[in-house]
Amino acid sequence: MKEDYSKIEVTCSLVPQSFDELKSRELALVLKAKQARVTSHSPYSNYSVGAALLLGNGEIVSGSNQENAAYPSGLCAERTTMFAAGALYPGVNFEVLAVAIPDTAENLPSPCGACLQVMAEYQFKQESPLKILLIHPREDIVYVADKLQQMLPFAFNQSHLPKK
Ligand code: THU
Repeated sequence: MKEDYSKIEVTCSLVPQSFDELKSRELALVLKAKQARVTSHSPYSNYSVGAALLLGNGEIVSGSNQENAAYPSGLCAERTTMFAAGALYPGVNFEVLAVAIPDTAENLPSPCGACLQVMAEYQFKQESPLKILLIHPREDIVYVADKLQQMLPFAFNQSHLPKK
């Protein structure tokens, strides 16, 4: 291999923060995401997920996972929320997305690849970071990704497509 090709290596990180350390608007967002779980339609998985998105205009849009008897027709909480926000407030930046899961869960929330890809689309479009708060299921702690790259460093975006 030619010498001018070098290894591409990135480090992803999620930083824990206690609720006490959060700004008041982020704490409000966390509480909204937790509340949004009650709107989940998840009779098939019994795993209710809530999400809340803080927008650049100060609005908060929340959502939850919506399942379907035809399983692939359902949608995760994160995408339900982002698509609702995109439709309600076109052109307004997505600033912070909080995700909540059942308090019986063993692990932290972990947005699926498709949801991360949708986050990548909006972050790329707005040219400013989308912060992600993963709410611990039992402790008053969030794990923070200050931009999407901390969770999906090699996202596909429109810059990869041929010029029109
Ligand atoms: N789900 C979400 O809503 N968000 C995630 O981050 C992971 C999974 C949903 C999809 C499905 O309704 C249920 O959780 C089980 O996969």
